[in-house]
Amino acid sequence: MKRRVMIDCDPGIDDSLALMLALSMEEELEVTGITIVCGNSPVDMGAANAKKVLEHMGRLDIPVFKGAARPLEREYVDALDTHGRDGLGESFLPDVAGYDQDMGAVDFLEKTVKEGPCSVIALGPMTNLALLYQKNPAAFAQIEEIVSMGGNFRSHGNCSPVAEYNYWADPDGAALVYEAMANLGKKISMVGLDVTRKIVLTPDLLEYMKRLSPDRGKFVEKITKFYFDFHWRQERLIGCVINDPLAVAYFADRTLCEGTEAYVQVETEGISIGQTVVDSMGFYGKHPNALVLTATDPVRFFSLFFGRLLGLEESGLDLIPALVKEVGR
Ligand code: BDR
Ligand code: CA
Repeated sequence: MKRRVMIDCDPGIDDSLALMLALSMEEELEVTGITIVCGNSPVDMGAANAKKVLEHMGRLDIPVFKGAARPLEREYVDALDTHGRDGLGESFLPDVAGYDQDMGAVDFLEKTVKEGPCSVIALGPMTNLALLYQKNPAAFAQIEEIVSMGGNFRSHGNCSPVAEYNYWADPDGAALVYEAMANLGKKISMVGLDVTRKIVLTPDLLEYMKRLSPDRGKFVEKITKFYFDFHWRQERLIGCVINDPLAVAYFADRTLCEGTEAYVQVETEGISIGQTVVDSMGFYGKHPNALVLTATDPVRFFSLFFGRLLGLEESGLDLIPALVKEVGR
């Protein structure tokens, strides 16, 4: 069944790959709009990058709405060290003129959920969602489902020993959204570092992509080169972890990840700021407000990712199992 969805993001290299995947899944997803939050990139840069991706995909018909320019309470800290000075891997693709929306992201989220069932795939800090809740809790309650790339359970953080960037960048926004979901008796699907760390785009996989589809492969190469270099410098990893596309893939195919339901609280202060405290043992005695994903299948993910991005049958992507296994993670 085709589902209506808004993609809330901060592009961002891996956000851009996630947008490309979502736009390639027309059978499963109707992307009603893209909302931008400050995160990896400042909000204006993120919106400009989303338009660059839409242009590459030939989908400038999809509207892009600018949202929060700063987190709920904390000072804004970008991640341009990870994503490059232009937020898109220093690809310096030309800006796309026009296609600007007068409406802001929060108003668009509010309007869209009122029009009919619609979910949100959140790929950046959850500031826009928190602002929607503050503005109109009833509209927030109407969101069909939230799948969020963020947090970590048994895996270590990527911004501190215990915190993942999206929730670390706006811990108050994330904490508010998790609390609001708990009060509504609903669950966020938390696609955190436990699963996204397994999704490593390697030089071999990228080479395979270029062989199969030179144009698309070269675009991916252009925007990921900086990300490859960053991962080498930071983690001695030959490849790059592409977090955000897994959240899109999981939204469309629930068999790609498995996890555990638990009550999750996001820490907002101190040395563990941004940490997702996952009460998997039920110490607090509270109803689960999250499905925390803990396992995934990278071969199946990359088969889907390649198949959709390149417009090929998955059955023909015979090299993927061997190329993914080489990572050994
Ligand atoms: C998250 O932060 C950003 O670097 C990525 O876009 C992803 O959403 C991973 O921690
Ligand atoms: Ca992101």
